Formats: sequence, C-alpha cells, structure tokens
Amino acid sequence: MGCLRASRVFSMGFSITYRTMSAAAPKLVAVAESRRFMIDCFKAVKVPQAHAEAQADLLVAADHRGHFSHGMNRLEMYINDLAINSTDGAAVPKILKETPATAWVDGLNGLGAVVGNYCMDLAIKKAKTVGVGWVCAKGSNHYGMAGWYAIRAMDQGLVGMSMTNTSPLMAPTRAKEAALGTNPLSLGANATNGDKFLLDMATTAVAVGKIEIQRRKGAPLPDGWAQDPSGEVTNDAELGFSTGCLMPLGGSELTSGYKGYGLGAMVDILSGVMSGANYSTQVRKWTHAGADSAADLGQVFIAVDPNCFAPNFEERMADFNSRLRGATPTDPSKPVLLAGDKEKKGMADVDAAGGIQYLENQLKTCANLAEILKIKPLSFV
Ligand SMILES: NC(=O)c1ccc[n+]([C@@H]2O[C@H](COP(=O)([O-])OP(=O)(O)OC[C@H]3O[C@@H](n4cnc5c(N)ncnc54)[C@H](O)[C@@H]3O)[C@@H](O)[C@H]2O)c1
Repeated sequence: MGCLRASRVFSMGFSITYRTMSAAAPKLVAVAESRRFMIDCFKAVKVPQAHAEAQADLLVAADHRGHFSHGMNRLEMYINDLAINSTDGAAVPKILKETPATAWVDGLNGLGAVVGNYCMDLAIKKAKTVGVGWVCAKGSNHYGMAGWYAIRAMDQGLVGMSMTNTSPLMAPTRAKEAALGTNPLSLGANATNGDKFLLDMATTAVAVGKIEIQRRKGAPLPDGWAQDPSGEVTNDAELGFSTGCLMPLGGSELTSGYKGYGLGAMVDILSGVMSGANYSTQVRKWTHAGADSAADLGQVFIAVDPNCFAPNFEERMADFNSRLRGATPTDPSKPVLLAGDKEKKGMADVDAAGGIQYLENQLKTCANLAEILKIKPLSFV
C-alpha cells in the first residue's frame, strides 16, 4: 500500500467538491456505475464484497439525494483509513449486552455502514417484537448520512431515528475551541401514499464544506457560521476555515446558538457517552490532522412501532404534512417544504437526467484512485 499512503499525503483525504456552472455538456455517472466504482475501490483494499456493497450503497444514496459532501466525496478518506488499517473493513459487529428492547454493540472498528446497518436491523427486530428497539454502538467509524438508518426502519413500517458523534469541530456557546462534532441526527416517519417526513441534519449551523466553498469563491461568511481564534463570529472565510471552529445551529448566543449546542451535546450523550465510545474532545481529528488511530465513534439507532400508540399514525402523518406544506408561503414561487422534500427532488432530478453530475475535482480524485488501486475507471453515461 506504499503508493496509497503517498497519495494520502498529497491529497490529505478531504477532497471537498463544490458545484460550478460549466458551458460544456455535463458528464453524468449512472447511479449503478458510481456504486460499481466504489465497490471496486473498497475491494481493492481487501474489504469483503458484502461490506463493500453496504458502504457503497450508503455513499451513492447520499450523492443521489444531493448530499455530495457525504457521498463519493468521502470515498478517498475511507480508502485511506482502510489502507493503513485505522478502520477494519472485515470487522463484524458483536453484541455486548442485550435486553428485549435494547442492545449494546461493539462495532470492532468496522466500516460505518456495516456497523450502522447491523445495529438498525437489530433495533428493527426488537421494535417488531416489543414495540421499540434502542441500540447503542461503540467502536464505530464515520457512518455517512444519519438519515440512511432512519430510512431502513421506515422501509419496515417503523419510525426510525439515528445519531452519531463526530470529530470535534463545533465550539460550545461561549467557547473559543471545538468540543463537539457536527453530530447529526435523523428522524423518519412514513405517511400514507408513500409520503414521509425525513429530518436529517447536522447540529452545527453549516457543514465545514460550506465554509470551504465560500473560501474558494473568495466570498464572505454569513454571520453565525464560524468563529475566529478568539471566539468571535467571523465573516472571513479564510480565517473561519483555518480556525476550524464551527458555530452551533442558531449561531451566536444572541441568536440562540446554545440550542444547537444543546442538541449537539444531546447527540453525543446518547451516542458517545452512553455507548462507552469516545466523546467530545476524545474523538480524533479526521479531516485535517489525519487518522492514524481508530475513531471509536459512538452511535445510536432507534426503531419504534407507531402502532403501539394511537391508531392510524400514517394517515395523521399525511394530514400533518399537508398542514405544514399548505401554510401560505411568503414567496409564492417558493412553496413550504417538509424535511426530506429537497432530497426527494434531488433523486428525481438525477433519475430524469440519467446520472449523477460529479464535479471535475471529484472525477480527478476518482481517476487517481482508479490508477492507484488498479481498478476500472469510472465511465460516463
Ligand atoms: N456522519 C457524519 O459525521 C455527518 C456529520 C454531519 C452531517 N452529516 C450528514 O450530512 C448530510 C447533510 O446535513 P446538513 O445538516 O448539511 O443538511 P441540510 O442543511 O441540507 O438539511 C437538513 C434538513 O433540513 C431539511 N430542509 C432543507 N431545506 C428545507 C426547507 N426549506 N424546509 C424544510 N426542510 C428543509 C432537509 O430535508 C434535511 O432534512 C446529512 O445526511 C447528515 O446526516 C453526517
């Protein structure tokens, strides 16, 4: 793996991609081809077929939905971790402790999707038996879109929730250093006729990738995104990026950023502290300082059978959704949306176009990976 390590040093994993307008016809990659490419990459670093498929399914789903920061964009980082064995691609999670409704799982440093799918499937099994399944995992790795696991429960007619802790990037309100990650949370609930509510969000004001985009554009940061080294809100994208201290959802104390801080802490308590994984500043830096140690992330997976409560949940969810979407918009050209609507449109757009439009720098990263790993390069529609 010598040359892979060299590539890691040059590109440092975190290949942020951002979308630019181009006059040339877009190069599209079919969803199946994107998945094939990622599976081949994982297999090239000795990940077993089933685990490679699980991880590729997760990443391609993020690209399909328009969450490019959590799709192929992360592939190189996972490959780097696998190549130096800071993630164990073959690890199979094991249950440490179990009751009819709960399980404590050790992910044994396996791939995030492998640990996540295992835990959510266990939570689903328990919810189908006793109404609720609550599974906490330690020893996990970056698990991508939190919503992926909620969807898994929704596919079984259940309400799904998932949360994970991540590397420190968020400054607690009144602090000038990061002590929590972007700690995402998700909640998914089905309504009738295939409609749904699917909230899937980081608990920082924005993802770090959005700061990088402003920096590359030479544009200022809006208030409430990032701090400077003294802990003040900064509009300087260069400074915000180099400081690496994102503000919680809500921004400063004046605009109730302490609520986002509280939500991020809640996620870490339920995932990191409760599972016995690393939490807060114990979690390694991943993106900028490298990842030569195991992440030992904590995650939580909850499945609930809504039929344990009032009947006709999905009918009332449909009514609930229509009341929110039916609220009079401030701008008639921008209808009120529900969590999950943008991603649904993202998928429809990709399907209509016949493929995913990756950015040039992402495609270059893929070409580089194909060469280093000696696999078939990505092909285009
Ligand atoms: N694993 C990790 O370490 C990690 C960390 C952070 C984020 N993530 C993932 O990154 C992805 C992006 O997160 P994000 O916070 O940037 O998402 P986002 O800000 O794009 O969207 C957050 C939520 O708001 C909803 N939404 C967006 N616009 C809306 C509107 N106008 N009206 C109503 N709802 C609206 C979306 O449907 C989504 O549910 C998620 O999948 C998240 O799980 C993962």
